[in-house]
Amino acid sequence: MKKLFSKEEIGGAVRRLASLIEKDFEGEDIFFVCLLKGSFMFTSDLLRCIRNPSRVDFMRVASYGNAMQSKGAISITKDLEEDIEGKNVVIVEDIIDSGITLSSVRDLLKERKPKVLKICALVDKRARREVEIEGDYVGFTINDGFIVGYGIDYAELYRNCPEIYVVEENENAG
Ligand code: IMP
Ligand code: MG
Repeated sequence: MKKLFSKEEIGGAVRRLASLIEKDFEGEDIFFVCLLKGSFMFTSDLLRCIRNPSRVDFMRVASYGNAMQSKGAISITKDLEEDIEGKNVVIVEDIIDSGITLSSVRDLLKERKPKVLKICALVDKRARREVEIEGDYVGFTINDGFIVGYGIDYAELYRNCPEIYVVEENENAG
């Protein structure tokens, strides 16, 4: 594995995203939707930098695919416990890859009539997009490569690494 983003780089990106969000929602309440599991660490660091009155709830969706790829339909395995109607909602996601997960979540949450619905993603793999979706707040843009660390897993491992690493091609085999 090769280090891609250090703790300092991640911290800088998180603070930058937090200040953009604060600017957009000047003094207003914000409802953060943490997409489990990948964005738990990102969400907790991001929220520590936000001074708006903030709420957080958690949602988990499963997409049908394997560990290295996610494709196709999604299903909710853990839904929000709070109502988001009329609220300023920011979805917090670790990675936008094909975009399938986030576009499904976005459409789903839109039906619940939030006042505003924004997307905050730590990493955007823009080149791999299959459906049209844009992050409103994006930490890093990378081309390709499978990444782990800072909440992001490979087969449930590496979430506890404080830095982000890229897994070398040959390490993925088997
Ligand atoms: P999408 O539906 O293809 O956009 O997939 C997004 C989800 O796939 C992310 O939330 C991650 O859970 C997972 N994913 C995509 N790329 C990576 C990666 O490089 N490392 C770990 N998980 C990834
Ligand atoms: Mg994920």
